[in-house]
Amino acid sequence: MKSGKRLFHLAWFVSKGYGPKGWRNNWGGPNPANWVKPDLLVSLAQSLERAAFDYVMIEDSSNVPYTYKNSHDTYVRYAVDSPKLDPSVLAPFMMQATSRIGIVTTLSTTEYNPFMLARLTNTLDHVSDGRSGWNLVTGSNDGGAQNYGLEKQYPHDQRYEMADEYVELVQKLWDSWDADAMVIDRERDMFADPEKVHPVHFEGKYYRSRGPLSAPRSPQGHPVICQAGGSPRGRTFAARWAETIIAQSGTVAAMKAFREDIRAQAIGFGRNPDAIKILFLVAPIVDEFEDTAWARHEARIAEAETNREFYLANMSRITGIDFSKYDYDQPLPDLTSNGHLSVAKLYSGRTPREIVRTGRSLRDVQLVGTPDKVAGTMSEIIEEVGGDGFLIIDPEFTRRYICEIADGLVPALQKRGVVRTHYDHVMLRDNLLAF
Ligand SMILES: Cc1cc2nc3c(=O)[nH]c(=O)nc-3n(C[C@H](O)[C@H](O)[C@H](O)COP(=O)(O)O)c2cc1C
Repeated sequence: MKSGKRLFHLAWFVSKGYGPKGWRNNWGGPNPANWVKPDLLVSLAQSLERAAFDYVMIEDSSNVPYTYKNSHDTYVRYAVDSPKLDPSVLAPFMMQATSRIGIVTTLSTTEYNPFMLARLTNTLDHVSDGRSGWNLVTGSNDGGAQNYGLEKQYPHDQRYEMADEYVELVQKLWDSWDADAMVIDRERDMFADPEKVHPVHFEGKYYRSRGPLSAPRSPQGHPVICQAGGSPRGRTFAARWAETIIAQSGTVAAMKAFREDIRAQAIGFGRNPDAIKILFLVAPIVDEFEDTAWARHEARIAEAETNREFYLANMSRITGIDFSKYDYDQPLPDLTSNGHLSVAKLYSGRTPREIVRTGRSLRDVQLVGTPDKVAGTMSEIIEEVGGDGFLIIDPEFTRRYICEIADGLVPALQKRGVVRTHYDHVMLRDNLLAF
């Protein structure tokens, strides 16, 4: 790799989780009903490993929403944010088919009991030789909370307060077996050393658990914690716990400010800010020729306009705000939300049409063009922001798009010496900390 250039990290965001992908897209594959099988996502993980990505993150939510028009009709009809199968069943298939890439599974603190979550993430770390990550979400949608017996979601900031305690407990459970507890010594007739296994006796405000975990320490000890809080309280939470943060910012200046804020807060928690890798959501469009890439960009906007109900329903689910009640062409008021607060703030002052048209793209820089051109722009953004990398989102999610990124864009980035060409390590944390 060339010296003097800032290396950055790449990860992939599987939006719509383990759900239907590209079912009405011309490049969606011969049998859209196959989405229930892990094949496409396994093939994604293999392609991204070929491109030496740090990790693939599987998004999740576990309800059929009804926020938009107070009805589940739009969600069911167009497969908006549902249906979704369980990502923790998908993850082992991806792990089994790869050997270096990290697999990050979304698991919600309001939905999982902490002991179950500690056990599950520990198991995933064992079976993957230390390539497992936990996308730590608190849940946001009332419908989701109601599936788990609550009347509605806990208040936004309280969810993070509860999650603070939750992580403390989970980490104690992960630590409850010493690294050398499992001796498997036939001569001493000892499988594990009882002195090296410790109950945790955790008594918190919200959670209790006796411990120890019913499984030995995993290769990473602590599976990597990934987090996405963007609100003031969410950022403080992320600065305290996250090892990689997935962030959505509308402009390059906002990316830079976000990163600086997280790093400053991390220092306040006594952490090394370089140990937190902040990856920004982008949706590049690359093609062989500049004009065909722009034509596809325009087609993507036209598609969003045509299927606006899909996008409005998605925006409603995320924020808990019913966007059918707002004029499509009038700027939205200053919004607040008990769901994704930072997203509600991103929408404030813009018209729904504008939000539908831009999707998750940056507003000030367009990542559209030939692989080489887009690679150049991505490196310039990272130079400006200061680090640490990008989280690619799948606007089309087809094998064609995966190939364009893994075999088109990434080689162009590698040629510039700004991303890795091979893995130096097996475990996810080691790869994240490599630069
Ligand atoms: C890139 C990205 C991916 C996310 N993935 C999920 C997810 O899979 N499941 C989920 O419940 N929330 C997900 N979230 C939401 C966050 O966990 C968090 O609730 C949201 O960013 C709002 O945080 P805030 O209220 O602190 O602003 C995601 C957010 C971002 C930016």
